[in-house]
Amino acid sequence: MTNRVLAFLLVASGAISAALSAGCSDDSSSSGGANCDNVKGYSELSSAFSRCTNCHSSQLTGAARNAAPVGTDYDTYDLAKPQAQKIYDRVADGTMPQAGYPGFQGTEKDDMLAWADCGAPQ
Ligand code: HEC
Repeated sequence: MTNRVLAFLLVASGAISAALSAGCSDDSSSSGGANCDNVKGYSELSSAFSRCTNCHSSQLTGAARNAAPVGTDYDTYDLAKPQAQKIYDRVADGTMPQAGYPGFQGTEKDDMLAWADCGAPQ
């Protein structure tokens, strides 16, 4: 009898942990709910980031930055990646690219949001 109860418990706990891990298997999604399956890497987003780098570029100093804060540069992957959350926020709320400057075309905005929301792949 005791063995049967034990066996039942083992089977039941196995089923529960299988159910739990199945529930957690979709960890490709993230905070903004982007679909990360086909996310483009930074290297594929040069046209989208070109909307930013006429201000946010380490190549620009002084007035040429159009007041973009020093250190908010996106002209290389290593510079852009640590800023992904801030980039997400300002692109999602529509305050970047700055009003009066060239805006996104086609899928550039969605692509940049997905990039920032999906771990900022290279
Ligand atoms: C015409 C110049 C210009 C362009 C183009 C531009 N920005 Fe900005 N950006 C600014 C300025 C000026 C600020 C500081 C004022 C503010 O926060 O609104 C800023 C601030 C930011 C900040 C906040 C930085 C911080 O650390 O607080 C983020 C994030 C940002 N921009 C992202 C972007 C992204 C992403 C793009 C391209 C899609 C972009 N910007 C295009 C000028 C620009």
